[in-house]
Amino acid sequence: MKKIGLLTGGGDCPGLNAVIRAITKKASVVHNWEVIGFHDGYLGVVENRYTHLTEKDASGIITRGGTILGTTNKGDPFNYYEPGIEKPLDLSCAAIQNLKNLGIDVLITVGGDGTQSIAYKLFQKGMPVIGVPKTIDNDLCGTDQTFGFDTAVSIATEAIDRIHTTAEAHNRVMIVEVMGRYAGWIALYSGLASGGDIILIPEMPYNLDKIAEKIIERKESGRHFTIIVVAEGAHENGKDYTVKRTVKNSPEKVRLGGVAYKLAQDVEEKTGIEARATVLGHLLRGGVPVATDRILATRYGLGAIDLAAKEKYGHMVSLKNNVITSISLREAAAKQRLVTKNHDMVKAAKQIGVSFGV
Ligand code: F6P
Repeated sequence: MKKIGLLTGGGDCPGLNAVIRAITKKASVVHNWEVIGFHDGYLGVVENRYTHLTEKDASGIITRGGTILGTTNKGDPFNYYEPGIEKPLDLSCAAIQNLKNLGIDVLITVGGDGTQSIAYKLFQKGMPVIGVPKTIDNDLCGTDQTFGFDTAVSIATEAIDRIHTTAEAHNRVMIVEVMGRYAGWIALYSGLASGGDIILIPEMPYNLDKIAEKIIERKESGRHFTIIVVAEGAHENGKDYTVKRTVKNSPEKVRLGGVAYKLAQDVEEKTGIEARATVLGHLLRGGVPVATDRILATRYGLGAIDLAAKEKYGHMVSLKNNVITSISLREAAAKQRLVTKNHDMVKAAKQIGVSFGV
């Protein structure tokens, strides 16, 4: 009779509840194990806030966005910010003690690179952990795709389709900014899916003259509007990222965003053509998961329980060539998975005439 701890950490995304559902159902029905869900990510572990999850709790949640457990970017047990105290505290021993006191045999951590790096550090301190990869950014090493990504791409694609009609009506350059942090996967895939003319990603810093060239070339060939899909981490060659805000007690100190507004101004100045910007932001993290994310999230949850049954701790469930497998957390937490210049989707976009502003 194992006791499983479960938390969802970092940015939320559609599909989290599908993971919780699969883990809870398989643990309780197949193995007759107990599942303890911690509220608000690692904060719940440090502050001992949790709930017993039963098969009943897991019913009817596969279509729900967000996470029934709550999540947060804060609560890192190694850098815990007491309200009002400047310097973070290392409460990792207390957090592990809380888990031991509850008799938890393994902690399953559903999250992105931040969540999994903390999980790896807990593992190094002797706590059995298993990771499940989650992020709309799709920038986690060691897995072909994270759940949340497909839904973000679908939401962005639908939004860009709508922007197309107003661009054409006004003969404008319409710039749509999507999330993704320092990776351009959402921009690349949604730009391709929606027929974007220019796709700007952090991995390929852009040149304003190249962008202007593409817009003018389109205009001279009778296409009087242009759609630019820009990742929030995209930036002009030699210039810095556009930072929307700084965040104190979170592992990541900055939040990117707003490059589209500056780019709209630059495009108008360079080409004399009206330009407008739309930033999709957290829309990409909201609402009902698409079917592929529900299935991928379910497969990841079931895979996590299989790792727990084999006591293969210190590993993260992963997807390789559409097969559920696992990799060590050390590898997963190491670095971000970024778009490469020779990636198939970059090549595909170029073959249909998309400009990357380089
Ligand atoms: O990592 C997911 C993500 O949505 C990024 O794409 C985005 O930059 C960041 O989280 C936003 O963080 P927050 O929800 O804390 O503003």
